[in-house]
Amino acid sequence: MHQLWPVPTASASTSASAAPDTAFPGTVPPGTAFPDTAPPENTVPPELSDDDLEAIYDYPADLDRPWVQANFVASADGAVSVDERSEGLSSPADKRVFLLGRDLADVVLVGAGTALAETYRGARTTEARRERRRRHGLSDVPPVAVVTRRCSIPPDAPVVTDTSVPTLVITAADAPADRRAALTDAGAEVLLAGEDTVDPAAAIRLLGERGLLRIDCEGGPHLFASLMAADLVDQVCLTYAPLLAGPGPGRIVAGLPSTPRDMTLRSLLHEDGFLLARYRRA
Ligand SMILES: NC(=O)c1ccc[n+]([C@@H]2O[C@H](COP(=O)([O-])OP(=O)(O)OC[C@H]3O[C@@H](n4cnc5c(N)ncnc54)[C@H](OP(=O)(O)O)[C@@H]3O)[C@@H](O)[C@H]2O)c1
Repeated sequence: MHQLWPVPTASASTSASAAPDTAFPGTVPPGTAFPDTAPPENTVPPELSDDDLEAIYDYPADLDRPWVQANFVASADGAVSVDERSEGLSSPADKRVFLLGRDLADVVLVGAGTALAETYRGARTTEARRERRRRHGLSDVPPVAVVTRRCSIPPDAPVVTDTSVPTLVITAADAPADRRAALTDAGAEVLLAGEDTVDPAAAIRLLGERGLLRIDCEGGPHLFASLMAADLVDQVCLTYAPLLAGPGPGRIVAGLPSTPRDMTLRSLLHEDGFLLARYRRA
């Protein structure tokens, strides 16, 4: 994977010690215009190491409030899925950054539609990934938090049963009591974030109160729309796949309308025709 933006200079060399969201050593600072002149020859940006990626994608230091990052992959014509799954859009580079998003997070946040469509399970780790998490002061395994107004997750769903840490189910107080009880009996921890609907701000606040400040939202489009409508999205990591999916699938956002918001491009990486962009709240 290579960094396209900020534009590496001829002497570019990335560094594991680079602070997140500062210009990499030897690079043009963010916001600098592309040079008019052609770049010198033989200036292919260096291959990014795991440490480089970690520096690029790490969360802001010393967070004192929950901070929400959303992760998506879309086709070049804007589709969010192929055959109702995101798998057909992904690539090794996308998966590497997707897993890194989990590895650097306190909690993985997902909507019930995605958890069911993508057959979610509790997060898996390896010793190397646990070591990375420990270095960042994180627990060994991030819990998955599923948002569902109706408590529609079956208690025997793998996201509830196949996990090493209890899954959090964020729902509304008027969700059917028997479904809430069944999820609790199956090992999930049920959190109430509203009366007749899930209030996204309350949901994020509840996670923050548990010390889960680094929130990695993996979608889907309806959950993303509600977070956007409540102005809770701090960063979007979006992979563009070199694919035209055609009409049919929706976009990465669906449902609740929201006010357009400016974002700034913080980094753009490339591998095998896939573009991995990272936008942050302007
Ligand atoms: N390309 C990608 O990167 C990507 C990422 C994620 C998902 N996807 C795709 O997106 C599709 C799923 O789309 P989706 O829009 O159904 O996903 P979703 O947003 O994950 O799920 C929608 C469901 O989540 C619950 N929910 C979401 N926001 C809520 C809120 N604010 N309050 C209360 N409940 C809320 C509701 O569940 P209840 O009905 O249970 O109340 C709602 O029906 C799948 O095909 C998946 O593959 C693609």
